Amino acid sequence: MAEKTWVRMVTAQTPTNIAVIKYWGKRDETLILPVNDSISVTLDPAHLCTTTTVAVSPSFDQDRMWLNGKEISLSGGRYQNCLREIRARACEVEDKEKGIKIAKKDWEKLHLHVASYNNFPTAAGLASSAAGFACLVFALAKLMNAKEDNSELSAIARQGSGSACRSLFGGFVKWIMGKAEDGSDSLAVQLVDEKHWDELVIIIAVVSSRQKETSSTTGMRDSVETSLLLQHRAKEVVPKRIKQMEEAIKNRDFGSFAQLTCADSNQFHAVCLDTSPPIFYMNDTSHRQVKIISCVEKWNCSAGTPQVGLFVCFSLFCLGQCASHSRSLTLKQVAYTFDAGPNAVLIAHNRKAAAQLMQKLLFCFPPSSDADLNSYVIGDNSILKDAGIEDIKDVEALPPPPEIKDAQRCKGDVSYFICTKPGRGPALLSDESQALLHPETGLPK
Ligand code: ADE
Repeated sequence: MAEKTWVRMVTAQTPTNIAVIKYWGKRDETLILPVNDSISVTLDPAHLCTTTTVAVSPSFDQDRMWLNGKEISLSGGRYQNCLREIRARACEVEDKEKGIKIAKKDWEKLHLHVASYNNFPTAAGLASSAAGFACLVFALAKLMNAKEDNSELSAIARQGSGSACRSLFGGFVKWIMGKAEDGSDSLAVQLVDEKHWDELVIIIAVVSSRQKETSSTTGMRDSVETSLLLQHRAKEVVPKRIKQMEEAIKNRDFGSFAQLTCADSNQFHAVCLDTSPPIFYMNDTSHRQVKIISCVEKWNCSAGTPQVGLFVCFSLFCLGQCASHSRSLTLKQVAYTFDAGPNAVLIAHNRKAAAQLMQKLLFCFPPSSDADLNSYVIGDNSILKDAGIEDIKDVEALPPPPEIKDAQRCKGDVSYFICTKPGRGPALLSDESQALLHPETGLPK
């Protein structure tokens, strides 16, 4: 008769993050060591997160992983590096109730099962691998009773995906580039937790869920090899910006925060354009919007004081330029940042600014007439109520943003909006019903 065996499981949930001072360029491709420090805001995992269950059992005969229900290979270098590093830190585990005892040395022989689920489209350019690798490393550390703190774990998650290291904390997080050749000092630290600046509202315009054409890895490599602007940025610009951004965050100085965030996003895209061959991370949709709104730039600049809506509808590039010309006139209410993809991330100073922003965004990018507003604006869509929008008729009746001359309505350009806010770091889910693996077989539920 087969010997009765056991399965030990841990389930964790980890947020994604969006960089406000961008990571672009590696000085070591295997260890994933960056050419500059970066700073991010962690997004509320209630709206965007990865849930991962990891399991160990003497009955498993190989390491296996399922991502969003589909089995994937763990043979890639990034997974192997994370698994090797975390196994090296595994400690003894004893669960008397279940009759489980795993000695430190047993971890080398035992196999793992991993099931991971992203609650947002993996290909939508919303940093799914950041949340994914952070969650994998955090969950394995708990399963294996590793004693490392989250900063130390971040240096392991970094080897899966660079920006994953920042997902080990909530609030605002700095990834220190480090100097050591072995990467041991390239890790994340929390600047402030999510309660420090909780009035911020983050609205993401998801433009398309198509896979991006240039992977970040290839793009970064090309930029490091060919862009002189990247060298200047890493050496001269980012070190100063990091200090200014830390101050702005500490003082909740939204004017400085927005100016730095927009300027850094623009410089990141300038580096992409300075790369040979040039990288265009904005797809046709965003370019159309940037064009539409170039007229807003004129208005913004001539009007002098950027206020709530002198923007945005992805005129965002333009606003950034205005903002930097009129730094002393800052009454900014919204910051924008674009990652290596076409989605716009808008950070509003507070709910009032977010409600006004939502009205302008919905004027410019209305849902199709038969769409359900609650699936077009997801996450914390109570902002809609603040904006006086209850149904599609209210959207149709929205006035054109006064700041935008001849504002056009572009149905279908945005797939959906996600309303969220700064959120917490990784958490363990102790309720077995939330596990993605079956407690007896260790296979996906
Ligand atoms: N890449 C994208 N999503 C991921 C996940 N949840 N875990 C690991 N890698 C990922």
